[in-house]
Amino acid sequence: MGLIIKKAAKLKMDKFYDNFYFEKMLDTSNEWIVKRTGIEKRFFSEKPLSQMAEEAAENLKLTDEEKKKIRLLIVSTVGGDFIVPSLAAILQGRLGLEKEILAFDLNIACTGFVGGTILAESYLRAGEYALVIGAEKLSNFTNFKDRTTAIIFADGAGACLYEKSKEKFYKDLGTISDEKFLTLKSDEGYLKMEGREVFRFATSVMPKSIEKVLKRADQKIDLFILHQANERIINFIEKKIPGNYYSNIKNYANTSSASIAMALADLYEKDSLRGKNILLAGFGGGLTYGTCIVRGENEIR
Ligand code: UT7
Repeated sequence: MGLIIKKAAKLKMDKFYDNFYFEKMLDTSNEWIVKRTGIEKRFFSEKPLSQMAEEAAENLKLTDEEKKKIRLLIVSTVGGDFIVPSLAAILQGRLGLEKEILAFDLNIACTGFVGGTILAESYLRAGEYALVIGAEKLSNFTNFKDRTTAIIFADGAGACLYEKSKEKFYKDLGTISDEKFLTLKSDEGYLKMEGREVFRFATSVMPKSIEKVLKRADQKIDLFILHQANERIINFIEKKIPGNYYSNIKNYANTSSASIAMALADLYEKDSLRGKNILLAGFGGGLTYGTCIVRGENEIR
């Protein structure tokens, strides 16, 4: 693959809210949420997003040698506590990375981590490293009176250290403009979603994107990691394209572009990425989608 996962880590989350929390404030139920989404609990952060992203990256425990090899830092987010400077610029200093690097924030909504991964592959030369972070504090943009979004979206941050390899990279990215189905307008301040339409989009576009990449790559995939938007979407795609699919949505809910990064972190912690061919697929606001294949490092840690 064109990118090797050297390390992955996530924010330490300490305070989870189960579905019963919402029963008290909204016309909803634990049963409905579990059945329709697979979500059992989620994390809402009391810290600013810059700190969440920083902590996720610090948990990579980067060595000085690794820091020197990082040529690119991308923070994927729909928005945080700073508009300027970018979170990436802030983290360059806080993490003690080299000055001569490109560091920027990327907003492709839930597709952001996959988009950042694809950009990293195209920017790096073989042997160079990129740090790609997905960090979201969606609770800042959630209307807690709206049951169609409040129970789904949550906070999280994950970080991944990639190395560019000489192998071929397979990817697919796309945008289908939409101003209705999934929006966060600055004058409204809240996420709004026509869930059924976005569900339809995800289940029609993603299998095609994944199949396109699989056909081009023509290799065995050990692990499929999709954006954790809804357990039913993952199950739907798994039925169409059978394989080993990872899901952690029951623990974290939908954390937009942080979800795939956190899934990688969970698996890295269990040493379950090593030597694996991993397909990543994200989709969401824009509407946007992206698929690519990366590889877990072979070396024994
Ligand atoms: O991360 C970015 C991309 N986002 C996604 O991929 C999300 C995709 N969409 C979804 O995950 C699902 O559409 C939702 C989880 C958002 C909604 O599930 P659904 O099965 O599509 O429900 P629905 O919108 O079709 O609503 C079914 C019923 C409606 O009631 P009626 O009209 O049948 O009487 C809703 O009003 O469920 C009602 N409903 C709820 N009931 C209890 C909607 N939200 C809730 C709720 N609790 N929280």
